[in-house]
Amino acid sequence: MIIEIRGLSKHYGDTIAVDRLSLDVPGGSVYGLRGPNGSGKSTTIRMLTGQARPTSGTATVLGIDPATDPEGVRSRLGIIPEQETPPSFLTAAECLRFVGSIRNLEGTDEAADW
Ligand SMILES: Nc1ncnc2c1ncn2[C@@H]1O[C@H](COP(=O)(O)OP(=O)(O)O)[C@@H](O)[C@H]1O
Ligand SMILES: [Mg+2]
Repeated sequence: MIIEIRGLSKHYGDTIAVDRLSLDVPGGSVYGLRGPNGSGKSTTIRMLTGQARPTSGTATVLGIDPATDPEGVRSRLGIIPEQETPPSFLTAAECLRFVGSIRNLEGTDEAADW
């Protein structure tokens, strides 16, 4: 499994953002997580990328626990957010080089010059 989630919950005070979610996503699949606003999709993604700590339950991405090794997970996956705000003063190539440099990615200079 690429993603394994077991009983994952996130509480913000009295708000239960994610309530005991369990699911498996096998490798090579396309998986959609859909639901109304406020149903906990973003919070789930944030927990899978180590940006939010689960209140309870567990998750692994590529076998890595984002709660204990967020950088390990983030170095191996990519996210295209709903809204992105790249700095308007950078060209597309400059933005690619900038992100490549802060993430220590190889080949972004060549890709930016392509
Ligand atoms: N940082 C936060 N602090 C407090 N409540 C939050 C926070 N993030 C999300 N929530 C609440 O958790 C619930 C789920 O939100 P969210 O994961 O953004 O849902 P979705 O992405 O499906 O629209 C909502 O009630 C939202 O208001
Ligand atoms: Mg959302």
